[in-house]
Parts: sequence; C-alpha cells; structure tokens
Amino acid sequence: MSSKKKGKGKKKAPTTGHRFRGITIPTASHPAIRKVKRQGVEPSIHGNKLWKSSCLLIDYLHRNPPEHSRKVMDVGCGWGISGIWCANKLGSQVTSVDADPDVFPFLDATADINGVETEHMVSRFEKLSVKKLSGYDMLIAADICFWDELVSPVANMVNRAVKAGVKQILIADPERAPFFDMAERCVDKHCAEIIDWETSGPIKASGAILVVENA
Ligand SMILES: C[S@@+](CC[C@H](N)C(=O)[O-])C[C@H]1O[C@@H](n2cnc3c(N)ncnc32)[C@H](O)[C@@H]1O
Repeated sequence: MSSKKKGKGKKKAPTTGHRFRGITIPTASHPAIRKVKRQGVEPSIHGNKLWKSSCLLIDYLHRNPPEHSRKVMDVGCGWGISGIWCANKLGSQVTSVDADPDVFPFLDATADINGVETEHMVSRFEKLSVKKLSGYDMLIAADICFWDELVSPVANMVNRAVKAGVKQILIADPERAPFFDMAERCVDKHCAEIIDWETSGPIKASGAILVVENA
C-alpha cells in the first residue's frame, strides 16, 4: 500500500498568461492556445510562439504614443500580439501579415482573449507592393530579420513602405546580426534611428528598435 501523503508534491498549475501594458499575453498553456495546438496546427517559419521583441515594440508604443495609428500593418505577425495591442489600446484597424497561414489560428485565439479582431493577409515581405502598403499609417514588426537571406527582403520592404507614404515604421529585434545589416541600410537611406530598448515589469526583454519617421 502506498504511504504517500495527500497534497505533497502537488504540481503548481502552469501560468496561462501575463498582463503586459494593459493586454494579456497568453502562454502555450493557455486553454485557447492548447485548443489550437490540439487541432494539429503548427507554424513552420518560427511563428510558433510569442517572441519577446513584440514586447519591446508594445513598450515603445506605450511610452511614445504614435501620432498616426488609424491603419496599422503588423508584418511577420506570428501570433500577432503587437498588432493586437494597437487594436486594443490605440483603436487601430490592423492588418496582420505573415507568409505562414498556420500562424492565424493562434493569432485569432490571442485576439479573442484580448477582445479584438484583426484582418489577415498571407504574404511574404517581398510581395508587399507599394500599392498594398499605401494607406497605412504605421508598419510594425518584431523579430522578422533573423536570417541573412532576410536582410534584402526586409530592407526593400521598408523602402517600398516609405515610398507608399507609411508615416512610421518600427521594427524591433533582439539584436541579431542580420537585423543590424538591414537597419544600417535604412539609416543610410531614410535617416532612420536604431534605438536600444529594454522593458521592465512582468516580461523582461531587451534589444533594439529601428525607427523610420516618414511623416
Ligand atoms: C520570429 S517570428 C516573430 C513573430 C512575431 N512578430 C512575434 O514577435 O511574436 C517571425 C515571423 O515572420 C514570419 N516570416 C518569416 N519569413 C517571412 C517572409 N519572407 N514574409 C512574411 N513573413 C515571414 C514567420 O512566419 C514568423 O511568424
């Protein structure tokens, strides 16, 4: 007969989410996220979780409320938390863009947790033409320049966004080398700034943000 005492060694329930700058960031243990996973959906280009650079972006926007934020495009959105924050806190109409359609069920679950919706667009950076980018006030992105092969596609997308009249472009990153190669091109071409950023509070993140002002 077992002599184990009741209650001893009981596992603590996993955290299902974190509050950050007024929204909920679900973890993989959140029931809504688990439900999507059980359906067998699996993002394939690293859109398999919420990356911390999106917290850099949210924190930057929280501290520097943008002048123009009616229409926002979140590119390489993954689970889409940065755009979801804009929809929830700035009342923005958000288009969430990703090359991988399998990120969208996770994005919808995350948006639902936060009581908002965003439009979906399946597109690669390379296919976002000046025409498609026109009419947006802000282009935001987090951790999208993680391979050398992404330097030119991302830099060229920024060029087209500037041409399209997008007023502010913000790309946050955990300071990977390809991000700096891309960002330096934007500094030269668009007088952009690269700002060091760090968050405090429930989610700690640090990195850099490329800021292009085009208003
Ligand atoms: C590291 S994840 C970051 C996701 C999200 N921005 C975040 O911070 O949680 C990179 C995202 O970029 C997308 N991606 C990668 N290459 C892409 C491309 N060429 N065009 C569009 N999206 C791309 C991936 O599918 C993935 O969702």
